[in-house]
Amino acid sequence: MTNEENFRDKSGREFKFTSQDFQRVRKLIYDYAGISLSDSKQELVYSRLSRRLRATGIGSFEEYLGLLERNDEAEWQAFTNSLTTNLTSFFREPHHFPILAEHMTRHKHREHFSIWCSASSTGEEPYSIAMTAVDAFGSYTPPVSIIATDLDTNVLATAEAGVYPEERVAKLEPDLVKRFFLRGTGKQAGYVKVRQELRDMITFRKLNLLDNSWPIRSPLDAIFCRNVMIYFDKATQLAILKKFVPLLRADGLLFAGHSESFYHAEEYFRLRGKTVYELATKPRDPIRAAARGESSVAKAHDSLRAGTSVESPAAKSSEPSQAHGSLLPRGRLGKL
Ligand SMILES: C[S@@+](CC[C@H](N)C(=O)[O-])C[C@H]1O[C@@H](n2cnc3c(N)ncnc32)[C@H](O)[C@@H]1O
Repeated sequence: MTNEENFRDKSGREFKFTSQDFQRVRKLIYDYAGISLSDSKQELVYSRLSRRLRATGIGSFEEYLGLLERNDEAEWQAFTNSLTTNLTSFFREPHHFPILAEHMTRHKHREHFSIWCSASSTGEEPYSIAMTAVDAFGSYTPPVSIIATDLDTNVLATAEAGVYPEERVAKLEPDLVKRFFLRGTGKQAGYVKVRQELRDMITFRKLNLLDNSWPIRSPLDAIFCRNVMIYFDKATQLAILKKFVPLLRADGLLFAGHSESFYHAEEYFRLRGKTVYELATKPRDPIRAAARGESSVAKAHDSLRAGTSVESPAAKSSEPSQAHGSLLPRGRLGKL
């Protein structure tokens, strides 16, 4: 007899999934990844985790959750990967990229530019940052490094491979696709591969934003933390934002997602423009401040930097998607 025949419950489900089971799942993923699952996610959770039950041959949620509670490491990763939402696209929220380009151009004299993409999903976001860097510096090897992290190891593997179905780049300008992607032929027909120079700029690594210490080298010129805070409650968001502070340069930028706002963290970050934040400690831009009728100098906020518990990486050696518009100047870098 199959699992299906054994466990099909009154609702026609293959496995029995009670509200207590759902509460257990909720607690496990919240404690580990900070992800808050609302009541409306019960069906989704059932559908994603029942695949894990089938894959492991485990016959009930009771047994499966017991395995997780006993800390089975491999299954923990699969469980986490099943519950993350990974929606992303190239040049999603395109207004951020000219701001990043302008920031890079303004600080071109710097020896090195470091960016952390902290929920990089399948890679479209860090590759968009890399393309922006290439055009800002007018070189396929700009002095820019990008650390791209995510909790989900499946998406990181996709990101690292840099291979995407052609539909993923269909809305990008053809010239941009020509310059930054190679079209597959033969068995790879229908796919594009990100150019090696972009891949060389990025290091992909697993990182849980809930971890106590982050092995991220600082100072960072920019942090992208887009469309992940929405899964966290305010207290978790605040703790993460506080830990970003000592990692950023004094004039660094924090890019947030379209439906995320950090007003509750105004002692750490101040809105600079549409979903782009700067450190609250940064002296205000007099022109912007005058436009807003604010004082031109922000209050000093040194205690914040001193009081953080983040490991200093410097000491180590270590949802709607939008099409990309005409952001990057054409033809500056020649053709592939
Ligand atoms: C909706 S995607 C956003 C991708 C990209 N930043 C964007 O805006 O297009 C959210 C990503 O956050 C990741 N994530 C969720 N919880 C996380 C955590 N605790 N630490 C790190 N990444 C997490 C998920 O795995 C997922 O890939």
